Amino acid sequence: MKETHLTPCDNKNTTHYTTALTAAEADSIKPEPLSRQTSTNAEAADQGPAKKAHARMNYIAVSAGRMTRRSFLQTASLVALSCRTARVHAARASAGAPGQPPALRPVMLRPITLNINGKRHQLLIEPRVTLLDALREYIGLSGTKKGCDRGQCGACTVLADGRRINSCLTLAIMQQDAAITTIEGIGSINALHPMQAAFLEKDAFQCGYCTPGQICSAIAALDEAAGGAPSAVTSDVRSATVNLSDAEIAERMSGNLCRCGAYSNIVEAVRMVAQGKAGTARRRT
Ligand code: FES
Ligand code: FES
Repeated sequence: MKETHLTPCDNKNTTHYTTALTAAEADSIKPEPLSRQTSTNAEAADQGPAKKAHARMNYIAVSAGRMTRRSFLQTASLVALSCRTARVHAARASAGAPGQPPALRPVMLRPITLNINGKRHQLLIEPRVTLLDALREYIGLSGTKKGCDRGQCGACTVLADGRRINSCLTLAIMQQDAAITTIEGIGSINALHPMQAAFLEKDAFQCGYCTPGQICSAIAALDEAAGGAPSAVTSDVRSATVNLSDAEIAERMSGNLCRCGAYSNIVEAVRMVAQGKAGTARRRT
């Protein structure tokens, strides 16, 4: 005797069922009468897609012995579609009324402590806040700039334990153990860092938006070179010393973009510091 398996659909709001007939079983089923099929379709025509499939499925449940392979496959597709449609409607209903924004979920704030320029800052922030936003929006250190906010321009460069990082690409909560240095912590107004003095001396900026990131990056780049770290243009990567040619400086600074195109002057400024020729000039007024 032929057995038809009925399994409940996973949508709790409906009573759809899916059938598990084999292909041989489906082939042996006779076609349903055209008049019956037409009336069923007509009844369902003014209903929604889920109800249409439901009506179609109910019909099949009682007349499974007269299905063709084609009608079986069509019906199975309809049932799957109706289940999906019902889930989408349920999701929309839980998101809020049509035209209304979805309900906001409460966000869990986390207490964190950041060591910025030698000073500890205690914050209560969402875990998803980037270090860049923590610096600018929560601590008020706006010297670090937001350019692309996706790790492509270098405007947000800061030092973490002396190494340069893009602060837009790291979460503040991840940097609690690091000593962060921003442009505000490099030199002071009356005692500039040599790199700041060199940028002034060589006129290595125009609008200045990229400059905090450029200076932080340049300081770390010189430290990297002094430590013998090779770059993509280093001719002898086994050498313990790096000859800081203009090509080396440009390559090592290539992660910092300057929309004003002050690159040649930036290279000059970095070279000046590398050669120990930069002083700690006072800020121009
Ligand atoms: S703002 Fe971080 S890399 Fe551009
Ligand atoms: S000085 Fe304007 S972006 Fe670099």
